[in-house]
Amino acid sequence: MPDVLITRRTFPAVLDLFERAGLTVDHNAADTPLSRAELAARLQGARALMPLLTDRVDAALLDAAPSLEIVANVAVGYDNVDVGAATARGIVVSNTPGVLTEATADLTMALLLAAARRLPEADAYTRAGRYQGWELFQPHLGLDVSGQTLGIAGMGRIGSAVARRAALGFNMPILYTSRSPVPAVEAELGARRVDLDTLLRESDFVSLHLPLTPETRHLIGAAQLALMKPTAILINTARGPIVDEAALVAALESGAIAGAALDVYEEEPAVHPGLPALHQHVVLAPHIGSATTRTRERMSLTAAANIVAVLGGGKAPNAVN
Ligand code: DGY
Repeated sequence: MPDVLITRRTFPAVLDLFERAGLTVDHNAADTPLSRAELAARLQGARALMPLLTDRVDAALLDAAPSLEIVANVAVGYDNVDVGAATARGIVVSNTPGVLTEATADLTMALLLAAARRLPEADAYTRAGRYQGWELFQPHLGLDVSGQTLGIAGMGRIGSAVARRAALGFNMPILYTSRSPVPAVEAELGARRVDLDTLLRESDFVSLHLPLTPETRHLIGAAQLALMKPTAILINTARGPIVDEAALVAALESGAIAGAALDVYEEEPAVHPGLPALHQHVVLAPHIGSATTRTRERMSLTAAANIVAVLGGGKAPNAVN
């Protein structure tokens, strides 16, 4: 029985790492998602599981894998893993913090800019041969970014990296919410910690950087969207269910807010049917926050390093339980 089940195609450097550690792998190089039954069957005898965020690792699956010692998620978020159930069975769960911070913050700014300046619309217009010459009132007049207020819900690693880009690169005043103050962003960037309602009321752009937990599910619903400025844009590169997508579509349709830039969705890979119909200041990406080749390799190597540590009798450097 192989030691490690890798649920989807991985990088050669990961396979090298396992080989050097003397661990055998069952690598789903075909890269088609494994069904629950296949996962359970291939976990028989496995000591480590290296899943993606699309693999649901719940109590039933863990019960089907009695030899498991670690679940090393290839993601910083781990809402796909029942951590309580893993802990109860003595199984370590690890994630990949740090290595994807900059890539995700870059994408957040790209989405913010694209939505404010209506880039997807302008691109489609130009490609369609519709550009007839410069006019004062061009069809894609957008919203200013520089100097506008950015509200960041969740000032962890990624929130802080976004704040740095926005404050230092775009001169944006920063408001933020966080369970406790983050003195570094206050001292370095002049960021101001406020409650969520104040952040929603006062920000021109609102960007979400929170984990998905029972407390953050639908944190942004109709009542919160109603607090936002009609000129404001919501950016979500965290987890889809933090936003009530139906309420967001309603807010966009009614003009309660000006736009949204989304990288994540409530029922991925499904996208609310109301969203693709909206174009002005609406940008939709397919969960690509960390999607640079180098970052994805570093995430995979981080997960693998956690497995090597635990199966070698040590501690997982990125254990979350
Ligand atoms: C994560 O790591 O949690 C992202 O959503 C995927 O990179």
